[in-house]
Amino acid sequence: MKLHDALYTRRSIRHFTDEQIEPETLTEIIHDAQRAPSWANSQPWHVVIATGKTLATIKQQHRQLAQAGRGGNAELDVMHRNDWSAFAQQNMQDWNQQVMQNLASDPAGRSTFLYAQQSLFDAAAIVYLLLPTNATGWSLYDLGAFGQTLMLSATDHDVQSIPAYELVRYPDLLHQELKVPQSEMFAMGIALGYAAETQLNKLVTDRVATSDVLTILD
Ligand SMILES: Cc1cc2nc3c(=O)[nH]c(=O)nc-3n(C[C@H](O)[C@H](O)[C@H](O)COP(=O)(O)O)c2cc1C
Repeated sequence: MKLHDALYTRRSIRHFTDEQIEPETLTEIIHDAQRAPSWANSQPWHVVIATGKTLATIKQQHRQLAQAGRGGNAELDVMHRNDWSAFAQQNMQDWNQQVMQNLASDPAGRSTFLYAQQSLFDAAAIVYLLLPTNATGWSLYDLGAFGQTLMLSATDHDVQSIPAYELVRYPDLLHQELKVPQSEMFAMGIALGYAAETQLNKLVTDRVATSDVLTILD
């Protein structure tokens, strides 16, 4: 697949089928992601992938916590929506509208969206992206590049994905089930799998005009 096609084909999928991903495919995707650049080639990331029984346990406990109304305590700070820039707030509002418009024909509407979150999108595999707890913003920058490279490689392997806060919302559960020490943090999660044919998965987001984010000075 051409890079341009991968860039424009990748989009977030929120409901996966129960088809599993071959371990060799998962390894290849991470191998590709390792091509991401990083500060002095520090490669600060560590990756844990949950599949099978491990993932089933995490899904079950995550759903219980979410349904009990337990607030998240992600290891990266979460900023209240009102504190974002006006530009970002507008973009998030537009996205919310797109989500609801896409689900307009679904009588369950917002519940379908929430259920997908609570079910961790029925992912076949969840990739947890870890950093040392004392990592700086530079390593976080590197990890973002790693994540996007990973998702582009997944697209190239005909595997769909979603990067989601929801996946790392309850880090205590993840430290325990995945036996990750407190010296590492769950910075982000990416769910992988094969897309189910559902309305939820028909959402295609747009982007602001390039001129809104770009300044070229002569
Ligand atoms: C840091 C981050 C956190 C996200 N968290 C969630 C989430 O918790 N739930 C969700 O449904 N989507 C989540 N997303 C997916 C975004 O909504 C999605 O990437 C964005 O709307 C653009 O759509 P696209 O990925 O289909 O291009 C997250 C994406 C990023 C990068």
